[in-house]
Amino acid sequence: MEIPSLKIGAVTARFPIIQGGMAVNVSTAELASAVADEGGIGVIGATGMSMENLRKQMREARAATKGLLGLNVMVAAREFKESVLVALKEKVDVIIAGAGFSRDIFTLCKEWKTPVITMVASVKVARLSERLGASAVIVEGCDAGGHLGTEEHAADLLPAICEAVSIPVIAAGGFVDGSDVGRMLELGAAGVQMGTRFLLSDECTVHKNFKNLLLNAKASDLVRIMSPVGLPANAIRTPLVEKYFKEDSSIKPTSCDGCLKKCGRQFCILEALTAARNGDYERGLFFTGKRYVDIKTVEPVKKIFADLVADAQAYLDRVLDNGALVTS
Ligand SMILES: Cc1cc2nc3c(=O)[nH]c(=O)nc-3n(C[C@H](O)[C@H](O)[C@H](O)COP(=O)(O)O)c2cc1C
Repeated sequence: MEIPSLKIGAVTARFPIIQGGMAVNVSTAELASAVADEGGIGVIGATGMSMENLRKQMREARAATKGLLGLNVMVAAREFKESVLVALKEKVDVIIAGAGFSRDIFTLCKEWKTPVITMVASVKVARLSERLGASAVIVEGCDAGGHLGTEEHAADLLPAICEAVSIPVIAAGGFVDGSDVGRMLELGAAGVQMGTRFLLSDECTVHKNFKNLLLNAKASDLVRIMSPVGLPANAIRTPLVEKYFKEDSSIKPTSCDGCLKKCGRQFCILEALTAARNGDYERGLFFTGKRYVDIKTVEPVKKIFADLVADAQAYLDRVLDNGALVTS
């Protein structure tokens, strides 16, 4: 079986790989266009970006590639709808809505004839998404980077969700190599979304301290933190995290621009993620997927992609040879 393409509504990516949108300028034009160029879907993370910068990133990415570009935005962000509108006007190919659920997005994207993908962690939300008009769902498990909607692993959630809906189901959370991609396709996924693997690429523009922190961290450096957004997240143990666990009041926000619809105000998430992006070890909150330990080097997207595709193909060939492939 040849590694399949990924059809989302009226658009088709040659390879079933989506680069996960990463907030606060972690996934910008350079990364998204490099992934799109290789035949995946490159995604700009809109959350924490000014509208002006988002427009600029969309235009830069568009000018750099003829491939498919997506926009990821957290429903929990105050400027959620504005970001979606900016991207639609810039002719984004797909909208991916994470960290919360919005019914409005379906009406808006229908008007613009742009497919919507929702991030889900249950059969119930997957079915609701399909009913409201989603073109695909991303099932994100507890091993993922970013905010989490479940304590279950994507591979455990996947079969029931594939069974429950007839739109493409994409797996996310804890996938870093081609055999992971092959395994998820075997389980019935139409594709895989990866964040951490692409964060550790040449084209991801975060400060090198962020990349080095992940490359040098041990498995025991991973913590689970409750973000002010009201959702848990995987992160690396750093001074800010230590202070958070000690309930140190010095990390409480001193000012606030109301970036979230609701905020727990334990600390300023926007400031902490921006500090991480800029490589500030003391003040940063470094989100990561759990499999960072299995990524040994920062590589160009071209090489990451070539390896993902070759290893996924080898996995599928091996499984097919054994006659064990479960086709969806
Ligand atoms: C630094 C970072 C920031 C992220 N920001 C977002 C975000 O803004 N919105 C979202 O839906 N997912 C976000 N994610 C999740 C990714 O899009 C992707 O689904 C996830 O990283 C997959 O897990 P993996 O890292 O194990 O591959 C983020 C992940 C990381 C590592």
